[in-house]
Amino acid sequence: MDNNITLAVIGCGRIANAAHLPVLSNLDHVRIKYACDLIREKAERAKTDFPKIEQVITDYKIALDDPEVDAVFVLTPNYSHYQVAMDAMRAGKHVMCEKPVTVNYELSAEMAKAADKYGRILNIGVCNRYHRSVEMLRDLNAQGRFGKLYHVYCSFRSFRSIPGLGGAFTTKAQSGGGVLIDWGIHFFDLILYILGEPKLLSATCDAYNEMAKDMKAYKYRGMWAEDTADIKHGTNDVDDFITGYIRTDKAGISFNGAWAQNIDKSEMFIDFLGDKAGARLSYGGKFEIYDGNTLETIRPEYDIPDMYRLEDQAFIESVKTGVKNRSNVDSVLNSMLLLDTLYRSADEKREIAL
Ligand SMILES: NC(=O)c1ccc[n+]([C@@H]2O[C@H](COP(=O)([O-])OP(=O)(O)OC[C@H]3O[C@@H](n4cnc5c(N)ncnc54)[C@H](O)[C@@H]3O)[C@@H](O)[C@H]2O)c1
Repeated sequence: MDNNITLAVIGCGRIANAAHLPVLSNLDHVRIKYACDLIREKAERAKTDFPKIEQVITDYKIALDDPEVDAVFVLTPNYSHYQVAMDAMRAGKHVMCEKPVTVNYELSAEMAKAADKYGRILNIGVCNRYHRSVEMLRDLNAQGRFGKLYHVYCSFRSFRSIPGLGGAFTTKAQSGGGVLIDWGIHFFDLILYILGEPKLLSATCDAYNEMAKDMKAYKYRGMWAEDTADIKHGTNDVDDFITGYIRTDKAGISFNGAWAQNIDKSEMFIDFLGDKAGARLSYGGKFEIYDGNTLETIRPEYDIPDMYRLEDQAFIESVKTGVKNRSNVDSVLNSMLLLDTLYRSADEKREIAL
């Protein structure tokens, strides 16, 4: 392999245009040979906005058949991650796949197995791990700064944020679930990462679908994915509010998540409670430490680099070296297992051992 990495970007929707295409367009020694979308106009628009894209296609198999392509970015709805990533790895391509791995743990584990079988890098878009603050919290915890870290509480609640009502995000067969799999994956991934991969013991959860059970009556103020909303003919069979408790061999974890709620507040944070100190990590990067010994609030200084740039650079580096990095699928499987267990607990209305 020469110094250049040749890529295909599969799926030219929001995350492609907002995050990965801007980053990849500015990385040296990276070719974007193909932009692929089932809807040709979306791929054409991406090519206009990101001239580094060389060709537009609607069938990703064309990119997989091209020996010049080293790796693909899978930026399609959750259910199709499995098929596209499996086809890509079978064709010898490395894969950077957006989160969640796919719609459930079983298929995610198959994807991880395939990555090993074909000797390919399979990274998942756990972009928040690339915040400097997250790395610092992980180190502080490992160094014992919090003393006994006995509990973590997290909130991922918003006023009106059901994405693409009636579309892929709210159709369980296509998404795997609602707010829990869509937002919860980021929060649980961060918690498990910062705690240092605790052993999961049990989980219990209640899931609600209340705010848009009558999709036409749902009143929204801000919502992304409006263009994919289909409130007339679509489906909304996923959780819009979720709450539960997780036991681990380290801290207990309690949580509330809402894509929508009749409280006009967006509360997106993780609290780490230790007997010597605590920390609140605000979603998006910043954290504060509350020091119980000195009754002090400490606001650490750090830079918040572009997490997507670091994530994509790390993937390219792994492709070049063959060395797995922090967003390798192996390290995301535990959060997928946890999500599955929480959904099962909600269905069966009981605590489930892991
Ligand atoms: N890391 C993050 O914070 C983050 C943020 C947003 C979305 N995501 C994830 O990214 C993925 C895409 O989300 P989005 O918001 O960009 O969705 P989107 O609907 O805006 O874009 C998906 C695109 O994929 C295309 N597509 C579907 N199947 C395809 C196929 N087989 N071949 C080619 N194109 C295909 C669709 O036409 C669409 O243009 C989801 O899995 C989502 O969970 C991650």
